[in-house]
Amino acid sequence: MKIKTSEFVTSAVYPDQYPEEMLPEIAFVGRSNVGKSSTINTLLNRKKLVKVSSTPGKTRTINFFVINEEFHFVDLPGYGYARVSKSERASWGKTIETYLATRENLLEVLLLVDIRHEPSADDKLMYDWIKHYGYGSIVVATKLDKIKRSQYQKNIKIIKEKLGMTKEDKVVPISSLKKEGVENLWTNISTLFINAGLPVTIEEAPKY
Ligand code: GTP
Ligand code: MG
Repeated sequence: MKIKTSEFVTSAVYPDQYPEEMLPEIAFVGRSNVGKSSTINTLLNRKKLVKVSSTPGKTRTINFFVINEEFHFVDLPGYGYARVSKSERASWGKTIETYLATRENLLEVLLLVDIRHEPSADDKLMYDWIKHYGYGSIVVATKLDKIKRSQYQKNIKIIKEKLGMTKEDKVVPISSLKKEGVENLWTNISTLFINAGLPVTIEEAPKY
């Protein structure tokens, strides 16, 4: 993917705060600290476009970014962070649910899971939910650098099985630290646009 421009658009909690511009959207969802914001920065080759923090629960609003003025990336609040109140957790859940259920230009929702661990009960709930809305063809397995190469296939198989993914669904591993798997994830995202017949700039930069 050739990235010409990437910019922050807005933060939102309620639908009337979502961008009016109905560009195709790819949303990133997953438990707190899994690496959603880092993955977006890595894909866009930006260091600080999206705030990353060692404090889990950093992203509390839905954050919209526009790429090449052609499509949106959407960073959703992370779930599963223990140190927030029950009512706060419920309101985040509602924020995510409303977005998934109502956003008409939402093309795909990428669930992120940590490649080291079996998906949690929350991950499974979230995956069932996004499948229910017709999304979930790609799961991103983050922090690839934290395991040995010899473990990749075994861990990917466990993620597929635990989430109940179909044969056609893909687990795409990535390391934001080592910048591994970035091209492969872009190829998979580009395929989503192509399959939906959407005109985005997907050609590589010319090599001289
Ligand atoms: P919330 O906003 O709290 O929901 O978290 P998030 O999912 O956006 O995670 P974030 O990108 O903020 O990353 C959380 C922590 O994991 C940070 O300390 C990152 O530096 C680290 N991290 C993210 N991706 C990777 C990776 O590929 N490898 C390693 N080793 N660390 C990573
Ligand atoms: Mg974040």
